[in-house]
Amino acid sequence: MSDSPSIASLRQESQTRLQFIQTLADLEAFQQEWLGRKGTLTTYLKNLGQLSLEQKKTVGKEANDLKVALEASLEQKTKDLKRQELEKQLSSESFDITLPGVPRAFGHKHPLSQVMEELVSIFKGLGFVCADGPEIESEFYNFEALNIPANHPARDMQDTFYLQASQQQLALPKLDDLQSKLEPTLLRTHTSPVQVHIMQKYPPPIAIIVPGRVYRHEAMDATHSCIFHQLEGLLVDEAVSFSDLKGTLSRFAQSFFGAQVKVRFRPSFFPFTEPSAEMDISCQLCQGSGCRVCKNTGWLEMLGAGMVNPNVFNAVKIDAQKYSGFAFGMGIERLAMFKYGVDDLRLFYENDIRFLEQF
Ligand code: FA5
Repeated sequence: MSDSPSIASLRQESQTRLQFIQTLADLEAFQQEWLGRKGTLTTYLKNLGQLSLEQKKTVGKEANDLKVALEASLEQKTKDLKRQELEKQLSSESFDITLPGVPRAFGHKHPLSQVMEELVSIFKGLGFVCADGPEIESEFYNFEALNIPANHPARDMQDTFYLQASQQQLALPKLDDLQSKLEPTLLRTHTSPVQVHIMQKYPPPIAIIVPGRVYRHEAMDATHSCIFHQLEGLLVDEAVSFSDLKGTLSRFAQSFFGAQVKVRFRPSFFPFTEPSAEMDISCQLCQGSGCRVCKNTGWLEMLGAGMVNPNVFNAVKIDAQKYSGFAFGMGIERLAMFKYGVDDLRLFYENDIRFLEQF
């Protein structure tokens, strides 16, 4: 102990060394070197035992004071170095807070939903209210009450998706009356069965539109899908005439396609309307001069319509002597195609963002 360095020189040396330390790693090494198990100061303190009682009192106190002081200096130095390192890191990570943020990409409504909503709003403006009905139907609602007899080709398995008995049981609680529970169930092939549900429930006057999904056992091509959407319309009151039908549908076509659109009505056949018609509009792509889409006719087939067949009124127990009405049904996909000049209906279902972004 006698040739050991004095406390004063240890203090001097430790403080000088501490001053020059620049990193936390060096500081850690210094701590080990001085205060670790075999550190300089630790060893010094251990060796105090060799001193006389008198020496122990003075040198021991000084050595302990040095230990306390060194620990305090180390704590302070650790804080300083940590702060310095953080400042260095922050200054190298500078960013411009005035730069604009990354804009969030917003989705929007599917074009078919947009068309559907526009149609609904036009017809609401004309005094119609929205109604809906089940997509799983009985033959009664989909066919029979609509004057489509059992041998009618529309009932053919090729056009209609019939449900099997097990699926039918799941569907049963949704059907309206006992009679329909005994019949085969199917996926509705048009929105016209909702006419029947509504006329069974509510007395005239009735003015409804029915937007909805329908199903047909058909192969997909550019103008056909096996699942598509229709908008049905039904107006029943006293003294409703064919000119009311023409006026309503002409007005609708002008609101939807613009004032320049021309409409024409051709005789047609639907079992549930008599007389029946199909409405064409002047081709929106060639403005009537003839093109590939209108097959050079200048006209596009728009929808089916007609005066409600008295047999339908009889099926829902509405007095056909007192009331008359008109009905119409249009395909939403086809309308969207005409409106936006899309030549393949399948594009609406493929969810290609490059296509959908255009609407
Ligand atoms: C009907 O479905 C009748 N219920 C419409 C109706 C209602 C007539 C009320 C009279 C009174 P149609 O089968 O023609 O009619 O279909 C109506 C429209 O649905 C067609 O004009 C067409 O735009 C669209 N459509 C028919 N089949 C398909 C299909 N496979 N894919 C896409 N759209 C179709």
